[in-house]
Amino acid sequence: MKVHIITPFPEMVKSIINCSILAKSQQKGYVEYYTYNLFDFAENSTNNRIDDYPFGGGAGMILKPEPIFEIFGSIKKGLNENSKIIYPTPDGQLLNHNLSKELSHLDDLVIINGHYKGIDQRIRDHIITDEISIGDYVLTGGELAGMIILDSVVRLMPGVINSKESSDSDSFSHPLLDGPHYTRPARYKDIDVPEILLSGNHKEIEKWFNKKREEKTKLRRPDLWGEYKRLKKSKE
Ligand code: ADE
Repeated sequence: MKVHIITPFPEMVKSIINCSILAKSQQKGYVEYYTYNLFDFAENSTNNRIDDYPFGGGAGMILKPEPIFEIFGSIKKGLNENSKIIYPTPDGQLLNHNLSKELSHLDDLVIINGHYKGIDQRIRDHIITDEISIGDYVLTGGELAGMIILDSVVRLMPGVINSKESSDSDSFSHPLLDGPHYTRPARYKDIDVPEILLSGNHKEIEKWFNKKREEKTKLRRPDLWGEYKRLKKSKE
């Protein structure tokens, strides 16, 4: 997958794509990242800036159309037909596992990061295909939200995470939230790992783990719990 990221703050983005699984995914050839600094294209806009005051008044600056149209124009030729052009925004569709999974099958992803009060609506109307929110709160800019979207997508690409079971048992890949995990030592500061996990009885361990997942889901996410019970009933 080719990932194009348009931002006034490429350093913010690079600090994330150059670490951990996102960086390894590039080294292993699963993804290629391209970042574009909006400020490099400011001189071609009407006032040599990337932002300007909103028509009609109001607080906050708006990212201007020219630099973004120009960058997108140069990327566009190389994009596959099924590409998604994403704008992270609090008024977008809420991100969830299914959406990340859908995006993980694409050949090209473009992420356009907004700032200040937002971006000129013409960019949203003529370039963006998907507006995505990462939750009901507002961040200072689109970079962190864009990186959250990207991280959730890349980890689902086949081969990126070594063990398929690892991502398959995550919360939201499964109708229940994930359960507790322990590693060595079995006793630390007089706190023991649950005995069942040391028993070697895989069937009982699975039952125990599922019970823990059920307890957590029931307590924390009544919405998912109701869905899980409905699903279970329909299979009976
Ligand atoms: N930009 C600022 N806040 C955001 C949010 N909650 N989701 C996506 N993009 C954003």
